[in-house]
Amino acid sequence: MTKSMDTIVSLCKRRGFIFPSSEIYGGLKGFWDYGPLGVELKRNVREAWWQDMITNHNERKVLEGAADAFSMVGLETSIVMHPQVWKAVGHYDLFHDLMIDCRECKARFRADHVPTSQCPRKPSKPPGEHKECQLTEPREFNLMFKTIIGALSGEEGTAFLRPETAQGMFVNFKNVVDSSRVKIPFGIAQIGKSFRNEITPRNFTFRSREFEQMEMEFFCHPDQSRQWYEYWRNRRFQWYINLGITSDNLILRDHDPNELSHYSVGTADVEYAFPFLPEGEYGELEGIAHRGDFDLRSHMEGKLVRDGDDLVVEQDEHGQPTHRGSGKDLSYFNDQTRERFVPHVIEPAAGADRATLAFLCEAYCEDEQPDDKGKPQTRVLMRLHPQLAPVKAAVFPLIKKEGMPELAADLYGELKAAGITSVYDQQGAIGRRYRRQDEIGTPFCITIDGETTSDGTVTIRDRDSLQQDRIPLSETVTEIARRLRG
Ligand code: GAP
Repeated sequence: MTKSMDTIVSLCKRRGFIFPSSEIYGGLKGFWDYGPLGVELKRNVREAWWQDMITNHNERKVLEGAADAFSMVGLETSIVMHPQVWKAVGHYDLFHDLMIDCRECKARFRADHVPTSQCPRKPSKPPGEHKECQLTEPREFNLMFKTIIGALSGEEGTAFLRPETAQGMFVNFKNVVDSSRVKIPFGIAQIGKSFRNEITPRNFTFRSREFEQMEMEFFCHPDQSRQWYEYWRNRRFQWYINLGITSDNLILRDHDPNELSHYSVGTADVEYAFPFLPEGEYGELEGIAHRGDFDLRSHMEGKLVRDGDDLVVEQDEHGQPTHRGSGKDLSYFNDQTRERFVPHVIEPAAGADRATLAFLCEAYCEDEQPDDKGKPQTRVLMRLHPQLAPVKAAVFPLIKKEGMPELAADLYGELKAAGITSVYDQQGAIGRRYRRQDEIGTPFCITIDGETTSDGTVTIRDRDSLQQDRIPLSETVTEIARRLRG
């Protein structure tokens, strides 16, 4: 089935997954709001990531010598950081895209989105406009949003909204080592908002100006960094597969050397075949980067630049550092081997919004099912992984009498009390109620009918197989919890 992005976007709006930000004022390009279902879905995506990285991570496997015998801790750092952070790691000077303006229609484009010397808007303009397209030369545009701290104006009070959460982990490296009992290798994970003043936000939430990242910095000995890089590349790819992305739609692509960021000595992207892309093209969901010791050393010494294979502190024409680091010692001392070194870092950096969008696109499908009168009808369904589905169970009384609503309401209450996100629906024909739940990805629908009142059983209907099983009402909550665990 070919999926249309327009259909998915319209379902997201209609059913309350994602709305344009400030829509009543015409929206704001590059900003999005998550509706009642979207907020649950995105929370589940974040939770699945946090569980995998932190909650379910068992560092005591060290005793068994397992591959994941290392500590993982979480962090939540501020969005506005000391401006020197961005100078020391190069974002202040280097975090830019090249932009091109059309002198005719004043539109602005990212240079890599302008394949020819013509304005990309030209074909859609009425004849007469764009007679002689005039594009400017590419110019640098820094993607960091500026803000002013306190009452100070000008350069003195200028700060930036973070363009990545990663630096929060680097500047706190020493704090974490000193305050917890972690030993290298270990990871620090964070989920939080990041901001980039993208020149051309596009493709729904894929390229936004405000978005959420799920990043982890894994600190290890330089001699073991290659091996950990391989480990995280493979583990992160598998995370998406485990949550329902089919391997046909997902690739792990190694960057060419000329694509690497200024800090990276190796990066691989997890990429998804989004429906807005031409067949055979993929969009980035996550980058797994081998950052070497670039960030910790930059925060110690100042802005580092490449000189052949080495990283050296950038100097101005007077031989002075262009930007200073903190001057603090961010090296690590291994008290068993008595070795002091600056750790290398492997960074899996994922986007919560892009992952959510990929799960939505992957889940969307249509099939033919008979309606209440037996006539074939197209059924729209979201085959979301049960762990991600915003609603886990729906409870329906077959009819609004004979004690069924009361039993259904009690069951609904029990499901909620057990922490299972559920809905209660008694409106309309049962078939329509199923369709409403299929369209938002609810994995299980429970119906209270005439038999419930006589023999105390209910039906559980499975969204994907459509199989209906009859089980005792008293065991329903346990059974739903069991099915959700998989
Ligand atoms: N700390 C490294 C870093 O930030 P990145 O590849 O620039 O690396 C990581 O960003 C992830 O953040 C991307 O793979 C993507 O999922 C998400 N991301 C980046 N820019 C985004 C944007 N403008 N809109 C939505 N998500 C974005």
